[in-house]
Amino acid sequence: MVKSGAWVVAVDGPAGSGKSSICAEVCRELDWVYVNTGLLYRAIGYVIMARGIDANDQQALALFLEEFIAEFSWDLQAKKIYWQGSDLSPELSSVAVGNQASAIAKIGFLRERLLPLQRELAFKAVNGILLDGRDISTVVFPDAHLKIFMTASLAVRAERRLLQLQREKPREQHPSLAALIANMEARDKQDSQRGAAPLAKAADAVELDTSSLSFVQAVAALKKLIESRVLKN
Ligand code: C5P
Repeated sequence: MVKSGAWVVAVDGPAGSGKSSICAEVCRELDWVYVNTGLLYRAIGYVIMARGIDANDQQALALFLEEFIAEFSWDLQAKKIYWQGSDLSPELSSVAVGNQASAIAKIGFLRERLLPLQRELAFKAVNGILLDGRDISTVVFPDAHLKIFMTASLAVRAERRLLQLQREKPREQHPSLAALIANMEARDKQDSQRGAAPLAKAADAVELDTSSLSFVQAVAALKKLIESRVLKN
């Protein structure tokens, strides 16, 4: 399935495990393409909410999905996602959008339809591409050159998410730490217990627990894994 000439690294893990910030920095340092696939699910979830489309109405959802795909684009360099010419990125980090993304991510036909969109990105990469999400090493790129399951304790993940929300929107009121812990636990449960492409550690994935690592240490640990297991080959 990996047909591009570039290295492909797949990173999966629960919400708030630090995947996006750590992976983005490693890719910047290696001059690789970085793809946060969660943005795709969040963007669809956000537009569905904004339009008042019922996520349980399969026919409406299928119609909307085609419309979305026809008019969306990524700016991978800037880590932005556009729909109908508008940058949706500033709207996507909220807890409500995360919940809606997780709700629609259970729908098998939607996931199937998003597969080629993710796989074709590998052809655009020159040196390497790293994608993060929930099913990258199990479904999207089951033959990735390296698979990583990135995790951290629930308390650490919730603290990081709160800091991220405060950093991105300092003037807004955010959920309490306790509310974030409860939300993450519920979302992780929904993501790992769904029938379609559940969050799971691939049998051949390397686990990277970032609970006790600083951002700089986590970046170094991921980079070392890529250098020792991929780039030396
Ligand atoms: O990674 P992030 O928290 O932004 O993802 C939002 C939601 O999108 C996840 O809770 C998950 O349900 C869904 N998702 C997925 N598969 C991916 C990426 C995200 O199911 N590859």
